[in-house]
Amino acid sequence: MGRPSVAVYPDPDLACRAVALEVAALLRSRAACGRPAVLGLPTGESPRGLYRELVRMRREDGLPFRHVVVFALDELWPLPSGSPRTYGSILRAELLDHLDLDPRNVHALDSAVAPHEAAAHCAAYEDRIRAAGGVDLQILGIGRSGHIGLNEPGSARDSRTRLVRLAEESRAALAAAFGAPDAVPAAGLTLGVGTILEARRITLLAFGPAKREAVRRALAGPADPSLPASFLCEHGDACFVLDQAAAGTPR
Ligand code: GLP
Repeated sequence: MGRPSVAVYPDPDLACRAVALEVAALLRSRAACGRPAVLGLPTGESPRGLYRELVRMRREDGLPFRHVVVFALDELWPLPSGSPRTYGSILRAELLDHLDLDPRNVHALDSAVAPHEAAAHCAAYEDRIRAAGGVDLQILGIGRSGHIGLNEPGSARDSRTRLVRLAEESRAALAAAFGAPDAVPAAGLTLGVGTILEARRITLLAFGPAKREAVRRALAGPADPSLPASFLCEHGDACFVLDQAAAGTPR
């Protein structure tokens, strides 16, 4: 146990470059011993620079992803499968489509699963994570409310992958992408807090002043469901990767 470590960079690009190097080192060490690396990946603004850098490393340095296994962190619900607004489509467009992944190694939650099948779908997703040997590196963003994935305030420490109702603040943050607040899905599917904490290493990315207060509270503790990111203090190998604005340090 112990507080997450904190790494502060002058800007998000430098931070993302450092995390990309860490991902590359993980992939290479796993490839060297013939084992796949398992990555848990979010969607959003925060990981964009990391994804750009990984795509560049694939293209220019030949970083191999052939044996990498990917689990998407969360998904909006309900949305038609393949809608360009699903997190799965966005993750494919920004990252996965540009790598040499085996499609059988790419896992995402189903934005169109029927309500009565959602619980079984989420349980099966956890089974797939276990069958892959667990997540080696879980990348996270953080919501202004301190949510991780779509674990909104009130999410329990031991929550599992499940269908959740979105907080109004989260829906408001998505309104621009959907054209109107009412067009934003009311719910989502997300790895639970307990599921996320089972990853062997967790790297949370937060950039810009809007994230400062959530980051400060998450690091200050105590771990509390009112701020789900605070549970990362109960993980032995979590790191917050910040720019100076999110860290609250002078430039
Ligand atoms: C959304 C996503 C989260 C993401 C968070 C922060 O609610 N479901 O997984 O981490 O927002 O997003 P961003 O990185 O765009 O600020």
